[in-house]
Amino acid sequence: MAVLPIAKVGNPILRNISTPVDVETIGSRTFQTFLDDMFETMVENDGIGLAAPQVARSTQVVVMDCSGDNGFPKTILINPKILFYGPQQTEMWEGCLSIDNLRGQVTRPSMIRVQALDQHGVLQEWDASGLYAVCIQHEMDHLLGKLFIDRMTDMSTLTQLQEFDTYWKDESTQEV
Ligand code: NI
Repeated sequence: MAVLPIAKVGNPILRNISTPVDVETIGSRTFQTFLDDMFETMVENDGIGLAAPQVARSTQVVVMDCSGDNGFPKTILINPKILFYGPQQTEMWEGCLSIDNLRGQVTRPSMIRVQALDQHGVLQEWDASGLYAVCIQHEMDHLLGKLFIDRMTDMSTLTQLQEFDTYWKDESTQEV
């Protein structure tokens, strides 16, 4: 396994539309190693989600994992689609491994139904809510060339991490 270099904001690859994975390749050693490398890269960088464009691959792959009270299970999304958005919105602080040292508030639907292939190439469908739903939407945005800063409606909440820890951490119940 390997820790891959992360593309940072300004790298044009983060603005590309990703192409679907060829289902026939999912079982290959090369693809499975890529999934392992993405997880290792995410964990090494203390992330809870990572999309393939962030490691310079314009392909529809996302890995996610978040332990703890507000966490969610280890998740792999291949060629994902959001089938349904719930009517409620939630506002959360988001950050991104491709945007160092910044957080900002983003409002998104708080519940989604998602469909994706798993690591075996089997189509799965499930509901996600709260942090899990927000993280899926954040990561799927990467597949569309979108970053959380594009989704912010109030840029005055853009906050450097040091100031976030001083002024805002206690107010936030959840973070991405
Ligand atoms: Ni991100």
